[in-house]
Amino acid sequence: MTRIYTFVNQKGGVGKTTTAINLGAYLAQLGQRVLIVDLDPQANATSSLGVDKNAVSGSTYDILLGSLPADSLPLHNERLKMSVLPSSPALAGAEVELVNELARENRLKQAIAPLDGRYDYILIDCPPSLGLLTVNGLVAARDGVIIPVQCEYLALEGLGQLTQTINRVRAALFPDLKVRGVALTMFDPRTNLATDVVKEVNKHFPKQAFHAVIPRSIRLAEAPSYGLPISAYAPTSAGAKAYEALAREVLKGDGVRVS
Ligand SMILES: Nc1ncnc2c1ncn2[C@@H]1O[C@H](COP(=O)(O)OP(=O)(O)OP(=O)(O)O)[C@@H](O)[C@H]1O
Ligand SMILES: [Mg+2]
Repeated sequence: MTRIYTFVNQKGGVGKTTTAINLGAYLAQLGQRVLIVDLDPQANATSSLGVDKNAVSGSTYDILLGSLPADSLPLHNERLKMSVLPSSPALAGAEVELVNELARENRLKQAIAPLDGRYDYILIDCPPSLGLLTVNGLVAARDGVIIPVQCEYLALEGLGQLTQTINRVRAALFPDLKVRGVALTMFDPRTNLATDVVKEVNKHFPKQAFHAVIPRSIRLAEAPSYGLPISAYAPTSAGAKAYEALAREVLKGDGVRVS
């Protein structure tokens, strides 16, 4: 069975995309078949994996609107041994275009159903909003959501609203929606804030913070401009080690054995 996780936090720039692609890259390196689904009109996951968002022949926009089947769209990267279902700028219009469609919150879930079994992991990268695209991401998150939280002042701002949205989706659309974990990102050991953030996170999401904490690292910020995950750009950096540790922690929690 394919495990499906969605990366969500309506706060912008907290490390959703960085976590989705780098966790994905290490899951792939550890032998898993991985697909990244880019559900953000900004298409950062798409470009971070070296794909030109303006040149793709089909994107998440087409599968949400039902004009193309999902199974023809994933682009496989042989070097990275992982695939991406790209986004495109057209996706920005999807929320409006879907408003009058039936079952508009279930579009993504239905669209990716044919991919079930082809991958071990499908990781869905959401935009920084709680709109219809993110709700589609939540409904499709069969095995739970992963919430990246930046270890900074005001990091917890908005988590109440996110919890509310998750609860609303549970009540109306998907009763089994789980929080798989909270990933603490951009940790800077020189500040005292991180411990407070961990405490606060555990208040909102009891015992759900992953042990692997992602440090602030210039290499992690540079890698996307080369179209590479950290595993290929700077595999010995601290950020790389942290994402590998996160991947191993996720696999262990999922009961997947790796050497
Ligand atoms: N651990 C880190 N250390 C240094 N820079 C980082 C780290 N994680 C992410 N960044 C950088 O911070 C910026 C925001 O990260 P990212 O794009 O992953 O966040 P996001 O939550 O996906 O943003 P958005 O809400 O716009 O989709 C990017 O420029 C990224 O390269
Ligand atoms: Mg992003």
